Amino acid sequence: MMAAEVRMRLAGKRVLVTGGAQGIGRAIVAKMRAEGARTAFCDNDAAAAAHTCSELAASGEPVLFEAADITSETEVERVVGRVRERLGGIDVLVNNAGINSYFDAAAMTEQDWDGVLAVDLKGAWLCCKHVLPLLRAAGGGSIVNIASIHARQTCPGMFPYAVAKSGLVGLTRSLALDCGRDNIRVNAVCPGWTRTRLVTEFFAQEPDPVAAERLIAGQQPLQRFAEPEEVANVVAFVASDEASFMTAAEVYVDGGLGAMLAT
Ligand SMILES: NC(=O)c1ccc[n+]([C@@H]2O[C@H](COP(=O)([O-])OP(=O)(O)OC[C@H]3O[C@@H](n4cnc5c(N)ncnc54)[C@H](O)[C@@H]3O)[C@@H](O)[C@H]2O)c1
Repeated sequence: MMAAEVRMRLAGKRVLVTGGAQGIGRAIVAKMRAEGARTAFCDNDAAAAAHTCSELAASGEPVLFEAADITSETEVERVVGRVRERLGGIDVLVNNAGINSYFDAAAMTEQDWDGVLAVDLKGAWLCCKHVLPLLRAAGGGSIVNIASIHARQTCPGMFPYAVAKSGLVGLTRSLALDCGRDNIRVNAVCPGWTRTRLVTEFFAQEPDPVAAERLIAGQQPLQRFAEPEEVANVVAFVASDEASFMTAAEVYVDGGLGAMLAT
């Protein structure tokens, strides 16, 4: 049997992924590295990150980890500086770190609002702010923002997650237009239900988590949730030069859910 062709679409690229310690971010880190990128990630969960680093080191090139909370400009600036020192620059930024929210708009506090928007929207801008000069210095590059199916459709009880994710798609469009002349592409990848801690957390809030999960899986056109690797595969393509004429795009990886009417 012929060996499967090994694709190295990101050979030579220097990649920074936020929130890479677990879930979709971790799958993106692994995929970028597998496609030849020199890969760094940041996360505010140092324990999960250490576990990820040691698992990845066992199977190839080590990845670079920097602890950071992306809601702090000081920390973002430090991480970007550190990655520049270690990798010599950055060609690809993946803004992946994010959290769910389950607030009532009338009951939540200003602090609650700021807390969600700080991670799901402001953090991505802060990373862009500090990485853009490096992409310009490199003669171009690619930014991939991990938004969500909630940028277009949402469900009750998750305020203001959809606000932040729609905002992230708006940020994607604005930056794509502003940075096109610098040969910098900016796109959003919008996952649907993907099997990670965020989804487990969502079901844990239901009175019968197992029944709720079975019900929602059965409503998916493909009758299942995505695995993080299925999202990471699309992110790697969008980040790579194979997607060289793609910018300002919203790419849905939702198993067809966005096409469906309630029946
Ligand atoms: N899982 C899904 O079904 C789904 C669907 C659509 C979009 N998304 C989006 O995908 C992205 C990844 O989600 P996931 O499901 O892998 O979640 P996850 O909780 O498994 O991973 C998120 C990672 O981000 C890190 N993080 C959170 N806040 C941070 C901060 N302030 N600074 C630095 N790191 C921080 C966490 O420690 C964690 O490692 C998120 O932006 C999420 O909104 C997920």
